[in-house]
Amino acid sequence: MAHFLNINAQSTKQIIALVERSLALKQGAQPVGQTYTVANLFFENSTRTATSFQMAEHRLGWQVIDINPQNSSMSKGESLADTLKTIKAIGVDVAVVRHAQTAWYEHLDDGRHPLPTLVNAGDGSGQHPSQSLLDLVTIYEHFGHFQGLKIRIVGDLAHSRVAHSNAEIFQRLGASITLSGPEIWHDSTFEKFGDYVDLDDQLDQVDVLMFLRVQHERITNQENQSFSALQYHQAYGLTQERYQRLRDNAIIMHPGPVNRDVEIASDLVEAPKSKIFEQMTNGVYARMAMLESIQSEVADAIN
Ligand code: CP
Repeated sequence: MAHFLNINAQSTKQIIALVERSLALKQGAQPVGQTYTVANLFFENSTRTATSFQMAEHRLGWQVIDINPQNSSMSKGESLADTLKTIKAIGVDVAVVRHAQTAWYEHLDDGRHPLPTLVNAGDGSGQHPSQSLLDLVTIYEHFGHFQGLKIRIVGDLAHSRVAHSNAEIFQRLGASITLSGPEIWHDSTFEKFGDYVDLDDQLDQVDVLMFLRVQHERITNQENQSFSALQYHQAYGLTQERYQRLRDNAIIMHPGPVNRDVEIASDLVEAPKSKIFEQMTNGVYARMAMLESIQSEVADAIN
């Protein structure tokens, strides 16, 4: 089996196959491949990713073990590498891991004892491959293609693993990207993917308006103290006025959890153009497709 750590490590053909497979599973296709034992280790809190990985694993018929890191021997100082070797020795085939450390998966394998197959459920400000896949599924389900779509990613770019995962893959699939957010949270890594613009700039031309959560847990105390929800909302939030300017077929996305009335006016979270809850539903099928694909016999069938 192959680790799944970064969506951008997949070929374009593999990504399209994963999107189509996710939608087929949503239409009722039967799971393929063997059934494995999977452990979920969430070192950072999660509602959507943790629950939908569990749901996906159960729907695939896998044996699911949830490990609460706070109750594990990591609280006695055991390292992540030793924890993963330990659960592999006990019989866990696959570990789904969320961790606050960016690229937590690097330097784990010292070649002395095997690790389980690793699935990245979000690493710090690095990557969030399952969120990217469910975002792609949601966009493709609505538009039927990626080529030529105008996607604007708005908000706390610097700290967002969703934005870091998505900008590259959106561009690779033929979408054109613009970025908007407070200058203090601009990140030069995005410059090769798109221009920074004012949120209101040509808003009526945008197909996908993707808001990011303000990540209070990753910003400095000083930034938190000077943060004004009202000012942020006026400059970078989805207001009724901005919503009215969107084209008929445009969609609103947000990975969740939403800070209501900060990134999006509360009344608009469930507005007709909002795909936020559809994203969550699609997350189950995207994660089923992702877990199927780490099995080499399934991957070989795609390639
Ligand atoms: N989108 C997302 O990762 O949400 P959770 O933190 O609730 O998993």
